[in-house]
Amino acid sequence: MHKRVHIKNATIVNEGRAFVGSIIIDDDRIDEVLEGRDCRPELPADEIFDAEGCYVLPGVIDDHVHFRDPGLTRKADFDTESKAAAAGGVTTVLDMPNCIPPTASKQALAEKIAIAQAHSHVNYGFFFGATSENAEELHNINKRKTVGVKLFMGNSTGNLRVESAEALQTVFSNSKLPIMVHCEDTDMVDANMRAAKEKFGEHVPIEEHSRIRSEEACYRSTAEAVRLARETNARLHVAHISTARELELFENPVYEKTHGGVPVPRITAEVCLPHLLFCDEDYKRLGARIKCNPSVKTRADRDALRAALNDGRIFCIGTDHAPHTIDDKRGGASKAASGIPMVQFSLCSMLDLVDEGVLTIERLVQLMCHNPAERFYVENRGYIRPGYMADLVIVKPKTPWTLATRMILSKCNWSPMEGHTFHWRILRTYVNGFMLFHNGHITDENYHGQQITFTTDHFKRVDRD
Ligand code: DOR
Ligand code: ZN
Repeated sequence: MHKRVHIKNATIVNEGRAFVGSIIIDDDRIDEVLEGRDCRPELPADEIFDAEGCYVLPGVIDDHVHFRDPGLTRKADFDTESKAAAAGGVTTVLDMPNCIPPTASKQALAEKIAIAQAHSHVNYGFFFGATSENAEELHNINKRKTVGVKLFMGNSTGNLRVESAEALQTVFSNSKLPIMVHCEDTDMVDANMRAAKEKFGEHVPIEEHSRIRSEEACYRSTAEAVRLARETNARLHVAHISTARELELFENPVYEKTHGGVPVPRITAEVCLPHLLFCDEDYKRLGARIKCNPSVKTRADRDALRAALNDGRIFCIGTDHAPHTIDDKRGGASKAASGIPMVQFSLCSMLDLVDEGVLTIERLVQLMCHNPAERFYVENRGYIRPGYMADLVIVKPKTPWTLATRMILSKCNWSPMEGHTFHWRILRTYVNGFMLFHNGHITDENYHGQQITFTTDHFKRVDRD
């Protein structure tokens, strides 16, 4: 049975514009997008929602989450984290391979897909982990169903680092899919850690983390990834840029056209919420809660990253949602786990930055919804367009609320944002036309999202392929 839902009088933010209008959802798809007040759709609707004073955005596509399933489910799992995503206006998550076993074989990928089919409440796609052993096989990955290749050039949670120059060369040469790279120079980080332990003993203060996981370690590794991508003409997406200096590596991009018509640089950068929201001054207040890899850097770095949201050097905003239990966060710079849960509060946090004048709401939609879809060639999502899947979020400005622990849906049950007052509320999240989140609640525990698919036409158009 088809159900038609008419959302009217909302400010619709899409493709660089914000206008008052109507969206008509037919079953799981967007049927019509109309401009103006009190529009009359062609066919009558079963349900009308007057969204006066609210904004409708495409559902957020978070291009960087660690949902920990399988193997690390004491920290998080697909059920809990996908509910947190829906509560935060995120309708699609692109999940990383550093679970147990790592998603670096066909079998592990199949196992993970089965878990998501059974437990994910939002839509999902998976990165395939590159290892020194599987670098040869990367060209055989199913391109319709895999987001991209995740490559750890620097070590982090999960020890998936690919170390040798030959293996790195093979990964870059063999992957047609975008390669998302974690860049930090591990030798430099290890040397910095040894020096810190000599100075402080085993308990290295948390503030040292940003000096150990240093600016130089990031710059050196990111520069090497960009060099390799240029040499091999690979599609590169550098994850979680954390320094002002790295930004210069993303100037003068070389573009290719994609299905959406938006030209996408072959080499792009992602910035993540921790590096936009925090800096090293915040260790005093938040301690290891803001410990992540790469580390948050100086206020000047944070501000440069914020500025780069507006000039094309940053292509996507992700969360690097990486939950750990609060116990895992003990032990200072040398022992506390790195990673921060973020998926539930990323959109609200970024909307606050809109209020602060850091970026416009149109730009936010570009960076959190359109560009992740473009970067990874996601099919039929990421825009408010007739025929596209009805992944939508309705938000309301000027409705302050303060984050209390009981509101957190992530399994780890803590957030660096506890006690923070946000100024926008997520009223509703529609996933494939289904209103999964409504006024603070998940509406149906039995609703499951879909595995997203990717277009592959562009692979034919480019010389190297
Ligand atoms: O802080 C981080 N946490 N950085 C990573 O690279 C991995 C992530 C995790 O999985 O915990
Ligand atoms: Zn990550």
